[in-house]
Amino acid sequence: MTATKGLEGIVATTSSVSSIIDGVLTYRGYNIDDLAENATFEEVVYLLWYGKLPNRSELDRLLKDLSENAAIPAEIIDQIKLYPKNVNSMAALRSAVSSLALYDEEANDMSKEANLRKAIKLQAQIPTIIAAFARIREGKEPIAPKAGVSIAENFLYMLTGKNPEKIAVEALDKALVLHADHELNASTFAARVTVATLSDIYSGVTSAIGALKGPLHGGANEAVMAMLEEIGTVDNVANYINEKLANKEKVMGFGHRVYKNGDPRAKHLQKMSQELGKITGNLNWYNMSIQIEELVTGQKGLKPNVDFYSASVYTSLEIPRDLFTPIFAISRTSGWTAHILEQYDNNRLIRPRAEYTGPLHQVFVPIEKR
Ligand code: ACO
Repeated sequence: MTATKGLEGIVATTSSVSSIIDGVLTYRGYNIDDLAENATFEEVVYLLWYGKLPNRSELDRLLKDLSENAAIPAEIIDQIKLYPKNVNSMAALRSAVSSLALYDEEANDMSKEANLRKAIKLQAQIPTIIAAFARIREGKEPIAPKAGVSIAENFLYMLTGKNPEKIAVEALDKALVLHADHELNASTFAARVTVATLSDIYSGVTSAIGALKGPLHGGANEAVMAMLEEIGTVDNVANYINEKLANKEKVMGFGHRVYKNGDPRAKHLQKMSQELGKITGNLNWYNMSIQIEELVTGQKGLKPNVDFYSASVYTSLEIPRDLFTPIFAISRTSGWTAHILEQYDNNRLIRPRAEYTGPLHQVFVPIEKR
């Protein structure tokens, strides 16, 4: 038995949710470029769960279900109020999502209908949890979700208490479309491994949030913004990046395990970053990003991934830096739950092997003689 480090190139399951073929990303066969330009996030959620784009009445039904399930139990709000104020936002999200299961009578009902209902609840409630957490830590009361608006609009409204501008809603909605699913990425794999033991959907999504938190995965978008803030201005970019590359340090937001010729999602986020920079009158983050890309791609051949330009996009939307990865979780909940449902439909325990590299034939020594 020979191990493949990081399971690179290993095909671990079949899936019809999304594909990356020759560098092209599709959700259920629809090119991400088409979806980014034309679909709303809720249409994509429907597509991922049901395998087809919704007609008007199917979409209206989903919007109604999401809206009706967006409020979170009072116990979750009370719990969030007890979290330390400076706690990591993904740790807070992971804890609160795990706790949702405690207040859902259907948590352990493994029927397909119940699992779909739980997918709706998770998709609807995760944005509410994040917005509530963001307000509570600032000593403010959480804002109840508004009926009849999209997830993107509701999230921005619950965060600020103000009706967001159309351009902000559209930008966030597009970012949610772009992050919704991505084949067997680390967090989706974690979700599938968890539910393949026939554990419940809340356990699967909690595992996924834990995996997304890391800076090699979803946590990279926050790390990108931390880097941009540290660099400060375009004038400092070259020194900073050249030193990082010379020290063989990673530049966050670059590289990808699967895409070697560029991440197809990055161009949409780059465009948005520029457009929003023009609207806000602050192109500093965008200009710095462009220069970083030139240096990193020029010297290492590494292209920006989905996390690189999303950092400046979210900053232009005045979203706090440590909510970037939780926003990724809002979007990827659709993909996680679609994969979980698919896993249940055709389940087999996921249990690979390890190549043993430790000592063999050890002789047991009683504790007195060690
Ligand atoms: N900056 C500088 N060098 C890099 C970077 C980077 N961002 N990414 C890879 N490299 C280099 C590595 O140092 C390594 O060089 P070496 O062969 O000289 O040692 C080589 O490229 C291969 O890199 P690995 O880390 O082995 O590639 P792997 O496929 O395991 O990792 C990953 C992919 C984790 C995305 C990596 O590129 C990385 O750490 N990027 C930065 C973090 C990031 O942006 N993560 C988000 C990914 S997208 C997502 O999850 C949503």
